[in-house]
Amino acid sequence: MSQLVVRRLLIDLETPFARDWCAGDAFRTAFFNALSMSFPFGEQFFIDAVRAALPLLPADEQARRQAEVRGFIGQEATHRRIHALFNAQLEKQGLVDRWTPRAMKRMELLKDADPRHALAITAATEHFTAMFAHWLLAHPEVLAGAEQRLQTLWLWHSAEESEHKTTAFDLYRATEGSEAWRARWMRRVTTLFLGDLARQTVANLRHEGQLWKWSTWKSAWRILGARGGLLRGNWAAWRRYFRADFHPSQDDSRLAEQWLASHSDRFVPVGG
Ligand SMILES: [Fe+2]
Ligand SMILES: [Fe+2]
Repeated sequence: MSQLVVRRLLIDLETPFARDWCAGDAFRTAFFNALSMSFPFGEQFFIDAVRAALPLLPADEQARRQAEVRGFIGQEATHRRIHALFNAQLEKQGLVDRWTPRAMKRMELLKDADPRHALAITAATEHFTAMFAHWLLAHPEVLAGAEQRLQTLWLWHSAEESEHKTTAFDLYRATEGSEAWRARWMRRVTTLFLGDLARQTVANLRHEGQLWKWSTWKSAWRILGARGGLLRGNWAAWRRYFRADFHPSQDDSRLAEQWLASHSDRFVPVGG
């Protein structure tokens, strides 16, 4: 069982950043901005799902997992706080988050459902974030040219996503969540998450007047579709989730460990 460290990031997000903060690249900026908009509500959802699942376990199992769950909640709570600061800057730039209200409405449908549904959604989304995290850590060129504080924000978040990628999955298994639900929720999460991400990225690009530029879509292809791009490069990892013997620890975490070890001047551990 992993020991999850909660870290306070030593970066300033009160100082505004450029509208095209990702090295002047309109697509990458709009794409990361869209992702950031999803974190405060998404990560709160994960926290609530994991917290609600713990009492489903026998007392000794709860006690055994408590420290890891506390670490998971602490990490996600820190992420959402920092991304709220980042998003406040986006709001000042005039960008409008349409993703959060849409997702909140959808979440209401789960209010009286078996808590393992929310946990299956969390485990599926955490696989997405772990794939994204590994990809971002493996492709430093994606953030190259962005201010260092912003690179630190995204890479720290990525490293911690990789670090806690097994927590929700293990809890789901421990609560004896059905394998059929697990696969079904991954399919639904994929459609909804990618659909929402695309819609918000397009809205951000439209707001910046960059939607119909050739350079925007050239960058989109390079980032998403080209060999080694986010979508094409993660196809195999996505499919692995459907295997009966899948476990998130089968995917490599070394880049995350290396990043955390070599950037310890960018954060301080908090609590215990
Ligand atoms: Fe997170
Ligand atoms: Fe996470």
